[in-house]
Amino acid sequence: MTGAAPATPQPARPASVVLGIETSCDETAAAVVARDAAGKGRILSNIVRSQWEEHRAFGGVVPEIAARAHAECLDEIVSAAMSGAGVLFEDLDAVAATAGPGLNSGLIVGLITGKAIALAHGKPLIAVNHLEAHALTVGLTSELAPPYLLLLVSGGHTQLLLVHGVGRYERLGTTIDDALGEAFDKTAKLLGLGFPGGPAVEAAARNGDPARFPFPRPMAGRAELHFSFAGLKTAVRVRAQALQPLTDQDIADVCASFQAAVAGSVADRIARAMSVAVERLPAGTPRHLVVAGGVAANQALRTALQDLTDSKGFTLHVPPVALCGDNAAMIAWAGAERLALGLTDPLDFSVRPRWPLDASAAPAIGAGVKA
Ligand code: KG4
Ligand code: ZN
Repeated sequence: MTGAAPATPQPARPASVVLGIETSCDETAAAVVARDAAGKGRILSNIVRSQWEEHRAFGGVVPEIAARAHAECLDEIVSAAMSGAGVLFEDLDAVAATAGPGLNSGLIVGLITGKAIALAHGKPLIAVNHLEAHALTVGLTSELAPPYLLLLVSGGHTQLLLVHGVGRYERLGTTIDDALGEAFDKTAKLLGLGFPGGPAVEAAARNGDPARFPFPRPMAGRAELHFSFAGLKTAVRVRAQALQPLTDQDIADVCASFQAAVAGSVADRIARAMSVAVERLPAGTPRHLVVAGGVAANQALRTALQDLTDSKGFTLHVPPVALCGDNAAMIAWAGAERLALGLTDPLDFSVRPRWPLDASAAPAIGAGVKA
């Protein structure tokens, strides 16, 4: 087990105000977050500008377009976050910017901006791991602190982790092919529902019959804690082709049945991970399951996981929907958590397009594994 290793430990500072900057994918975001001496968080501002319109015509995120869009609006978004919070740069205790994982050119835009502000105002820089930010978000709006079992489900990642503490992550499982958000996006694309796919599939599924198509529950019953969604995606494609021309009801039923299969597969994997968590965490540790990342917004998944946690004696925690997808409040919060431990980074910190939370975890078997 390893974490995002600290570069320059400094004396711990309990209370702080931190500016966060996020540019790892297709959201340009800046936020200011306060953390009090007791470790309680407060969002002072949280600005997110999505680039969906720029990418929609291409059916996915185009890295060059993303980087240019970040560069064009980041200064303005940082200014809006600062004035929205009512703080000046000199009031900040640190500047936190996402340094990875993500799209290289977008990361560079955000990290350079963070470095420039830190340098100009003599503030410490915190180079934040985007996955760590998702993993710690729950602590920004609730009292929950590690250790907990975490399901991290986004457009690029699908992982089960034991969160032992800030910077201390143990990966239990990952996907051997597509990430779950990617499976939603591809399903939406093949059904002609547009981009980003997750919210579109969820909306279409509301009028659908989840029992009409018995899609496979990938990996269900398997001992290893990995995920797989490529086979499910193929099953959806084959079914959609067989139904041509698709009616609105067909699309709704395919989406509802897809979500039911996803929920079934994910619940099976988590049930197994819960047993591992109970074995590995110290005896008597309260049993918490946290779900984070963009797909955590999905209500069908939340309902399935609520049922699972109720039946297994775990408590389910999901951040507010606005904090599930990419945002900078979570980056500022991860920065504040690290700063409280005296963890800051040097100004020559380089972006890390690949940056696993648990570098010691063995790669999963399969092509296209997400770190
Ligand atoms: O965490 P996130 O905003 O960005 C990444 O770090 O990847 O996650 C984006 C992913 C996309 O694949 C999007 O389709 C998916 O989260 N997503 C959803 C929902 N809202 C966003 N998937 C299922 N249901 C949703 N309601
Ligand atoms: Zn994310």
